[in-house]
Amino acid sequence: FPSNLRYEDLVITRSKSLQVKPRLDASTLKFGAVYTDHMLQASWKDGLGWSAPSIDPLGSISLHPCAQVLHYGVECFEGMKVYKGKDGQLRLFRPEMNMDRLARSAARLTLPQFDKLELLECIKELVRVERDWVPDEEGFSVYIRPTMIGTHPFLGVSPTREAMLYVILSPVGPYFPSGLKPIKLYVETENVRAFPGGVGDNKIGGNYATTILPQLRASHMGCSQVLYVLQDGMSEGGLVGESGSMNMFFLIRQEGEDGELELVTPPLDGLILPGVTRDTVIKLAQGFRDIKVSERPLHFDEVERASETGRLLEVFGTGTACMIQPVMSLTKKDHTEIKIPFNADAAKYWLAKPPGTGFTLNSFMEEPFSLCGRLSRSLLDVQYGHVDSEWSVVI
Ligand code: COI
Repeated sequence: FPSNLRYEDLVITRSKSLQVKPRLDASTLKFGAVYTDHMLQASWKDGLGWSAPSIDPLGSISLHPCAQVLHYGVECFEGMKVYKGKDGQLRLFRPEMNMDRLARSAARLTLPQFDKLELLECIKELVRVERDWVPDEEGFSVYIRPTMIGTHPFLGVSPTREAMLYVILSPVGPYFPSGLKPIKLYVETENVRAFPGGVGDNKIGGNYATTILPQLRASHMGCSQVLYVLQDGMSEGGLVGESGSMNMFFLIRQEGEDGELELVTPPLDGLILPGVTRDTVIKLAQGFRDIKVSERPLHFDEVERASETGRLLEVFGTGTACMIQPVMSLTKKDHTEIKIPFNADAAKYWLAKPPGTGFTLNSFMEEPFSLCGRLSRSLLDVQYGHVDSEWSVVI
């Protein structure tokens, strides 16, 4: 245990039998179902610190049956991606944000801190070892899942004294099998994902475990995911939160003649995961001179009123896994649907613009209207290296 996690201590053992790489096809490459040949790992002990990190063949891990993670869910994780451009270069996207968030989630669970730059260097090395797995097709990438667990074999509910950090990689295509096709969301008002004073703003496994059942119920109503709306006692409809794996954005035309266009997303008030794509979409959308971008509380009543008067123009979710995902409807408990216009031709038009050919955000009023399509094009341009950006970290 050299005490701190250090890239210079990294030991690499290569697998002797490499898998056959799968075909890149959105219909066969299910999100999170295929893993690359190697993993990064390191362990930590109270008083000793971190072991030397190692890259080893992907394999099972062995845990004592009393390990804290197995009883009290002492686990946090990250979601990042590595993209390969047509130039063959590998790029991470704003990875320092993931390192910061992992450190915050770990702190909330009394899991150990680590040197963020050193961990990032180790992750880059893992990616280099697996570079042949990274597809150079837009929309495809290798998903990176850093994970930290409490391994101390102790049934008392107490601070972590032993932990393990590991990183696995998974080649992925679109998160939703429908791709850019808009999805339906179920408006969930009974089950709660996050609440004031809770941990909704941390990326911890427990936040996701409890969303699976509501999501299953929603799928029986034909919806791909749930939109959490918290009954906060301030309005009839409740407070709009996020979806199970996405931050949410609503493009609303404000009331009155020449009502301004406002892109609204709930604020980082402790109930919302501070998404990397969320932050990026806010910054990109601020580039339009005719859209106001607001991080503010949004009550569901306002969404309904905007829809009834034809002012709800677009709804989309964002996330590392799902990128920018358009939404076509919000189904309520009584099975009524709020329909959201989605101009598929407009979205396709912007997405089909030649990558990086000077497409810049300026006026949203340029036709055809599709905020979702335009933001997606800009995001892909950065991620796949069609344009230079300080958000891109070339490996
Ligand atoms: C991500 O977007 O990276 C996520 O973590 C969502 C995930 C739970 C699939």
